Amino acid sequence: MASLASTFVSRGEAAPQADAFIEILADESLGVISPLLYGQFTEHIGGVIYDGVWVGERSKIRNYHGVRADLVDRLKEIHVPIIRWPGGCFADSYNWRDGVGPVAKRPRHTNFWEVDPDAQRLHEQGAQIFETNEFGTDEFARFCQLTGAEPYLAANVRSLPALEFDNWVEYCNSPAGSTSLAALRAEGGSRDPFNVRWWGVGNESWGCGGNFLPEDYAAEFRRYATWIPSFGLDLQLVGSGPNDNDLDWTNRFFEQIFASTHPYSNPHFRGWSVHHYSARHEQALRFEDASWYQVLKECDQIEQIIEDQWAAMGRYDKEHSVRLVVDEYGPWYVEGTEVDPAHIFGQQVTVRDALATALTLDIFNRHPEKVCMGTNAQLVNNINALFLCHEEKFLATPNYYVFGMYAGHQGGKALRANFSAPNIHYLYEGKSSNLWGMNGSASRKGNVITVTAVNTDVHSPKLTCVKLRGANIQQVSGTALFAADMHAHNTFEQPTNVQTTPLRTDLGGGEVTLTVPPGSVVKLELTVG
Ligand code: AHR
Repeated sequence: MASLASTFVSRGEAAPQADAFIEILADESLGVISPLLYGQFTEHIGGVIYDGVWVGERSKIRNYHGVRADLVDRLKEIHVPIIRWPGGCFADSYNWRDGVGPVAKRPRHTNFWEVDPDAQRLHEQGAQIFETNEFGTDEFARFCQLTGAEPYLAANVRSLPALEFDNWVEYCNSPAGSTSLAALRAEGGSRDPFNVRWWGVGNESWGCGGNFLPEDYAAEFRRYATWIPSFGLDLQLVGSGPNDNDLDWTNRFFEQIFASTHPYSNPHFRGWSVHHYSARHEQALRFEDASWYQVLKECDQIEQIIEDQWAAMGRYDKEHSVRLVVDEYGPWYVEGTEVDPAHIFGQQVTVRDALATALTLDIFNRHPEKVCMGTNAQLVNNINALFLCHEEKFLATPNYYVFGMYAGHQGGKALRANFSAPNIHYLYEGKSSNLWGMNGSASRKGNVITVTAVNTDVHSPKLTCVKLRGANIQQVSGTALFAADMHAHNTFEQPTNVQTTPLRTDLGGGEVTLTVPPGSVVKLELTVG
C-alpha cells in the first residue's frame, strides 16, 4: 500500500486534480435509517454463547451476572440496538422450556451442531457438543438489558408445536402476576416482562429449519402467526425468507400469503429475512489482491438481492407492509483461523472484512425504506465477528471499529449521495471482473451530517473532494480504519493492530478535501449551517 504523507493537501497549496468525488444532497432524504440495521446475531454454536457471551457468575473472568463484562462494555460503546438469539439452525432444535427455571434442574441435550458434518473437529475435541442450557431466555434477556439492546428471538417451527410459540411469547411478555408462565419467569428472578417485540417464525425453513417447500412453509407460517398473544405490544413477526436471492422461494411464499384464493392478512407480519454469506471457498488470512476484490464484490451483491426481493414482495404485498430483515451476513471462510478448536465457524477478521462489513452497512443505509433490520453473523467467535475471545483473552476485531464508526447513522435521515472513483479491474480465477472504487452513504441528524465511505483500491490512496448541496459545511472531522498490510488483523498479542485513527481533512471554499487511504473505511462528520 502507498504512503499517505506525500498526498496530503494543505490549505493554500495548489490542489491537485482529485481522484474521487463525493456529492451529498442535504435536501434529498431517502428515509430514516432504522437503528436496528446495526444489530448482531448470537447462536448456540461453538464459542459464541459459551466462552463468548456467557462465562458464568462464578467465573474469574470479569462478568456481569455471568455475562462477559468486556463484551457488554464494548457493545454499549457502539450502541448495539438489537441482538438475535438462539439461532440460526440451532433455533429449530431448541425447546425454550429447557432454558428456564432453576439452572441446576435444566436438562442437558446434544447440541444441534453436533450432527453437522462441518463440525467433525468439534466431535473430536469433545467440547461443547452438549447444550447445558445454562444460558437460556432469562440469561439472554439479561444480556440484552445490560447492553441496552432489544431482544429478537427465533422460534422453533421445525420441531415444536405452534402452541409452544404462544407459550414462549407468554413467558416473555405476560405481565407480572398474570399467568403461570409469568410466575415461572418471576421464580427465575424476572418479575417484570421482557417485552420482546421481534420474533422470527423459524430460520432457513428451506433448509435446516424443516426443508419445507414455500407453500408448506406458508401454511406453517399462517398457523404459527395467526393467534399470538400480544400483551399490548406491537409484535413484529419475521418470516423465514430466501437463501441469497432465491426469488422462487419469495414469490411462492408471498403468493400463498397475499394473493391466494384464501389471502391472509396479519398486522404483525413485518419482516422477511434474507441471509447472504460470501467467500465460502476463500481463506481468512491467506489471499492475494484478486481475492480481496472478489470477497468485497460478493458482499456487495446484497444490494441487488435487496432490490430484487423488494420488487418480488411488492408484487403481492402492494402496500409494502413487510420489509427486509437481513439477519445473517458476512464473509464466511474455510476453517483454520479460529482462536480455539471448539469454536466452530470461528475465523479471524482482517481489514478486508472491515471493508466488507462497512460496504454492507452503507447498502442498508442507502435503502432505509426497504431494510428495517440487519444482524451481523455472528457477534463473537464466529463468522464475521466483532470480538474474539477464549477464557480470559479478549479482543475487538476491525469489524467492531466499523460498527463504532457507523453508529452515528442510527436514526439519521439518509441523504442521497453520489460517490465516484475509477472502477477496479481484476482477474479472478482466470475471468476478468470489476468492482467500484469508492462507495458509501450519508445521513443527517440535526446539524451533523455523517458520511461513510469505502475505498476498495488496495494500493492507491484517493485524493477526494467532498461537496455538499443545500447546506454549508462549517466544520469537519475525519476518522479512518486501514492498515499497511491488507491481511492485518488483531491478535491476543497485538489486540489493537487494526483500529481507527483520526484522518486529516481540509475545509476550504465550502468543500472538503481529504486523502482516503488505500483499502480503507472512512467517516466524515460535517457540521452544517
Ligand atoms: O451462522 C451460521 C449458520 O448459517 C446459521 O445457523 C444458519 O442460519 C446459517 O446457515
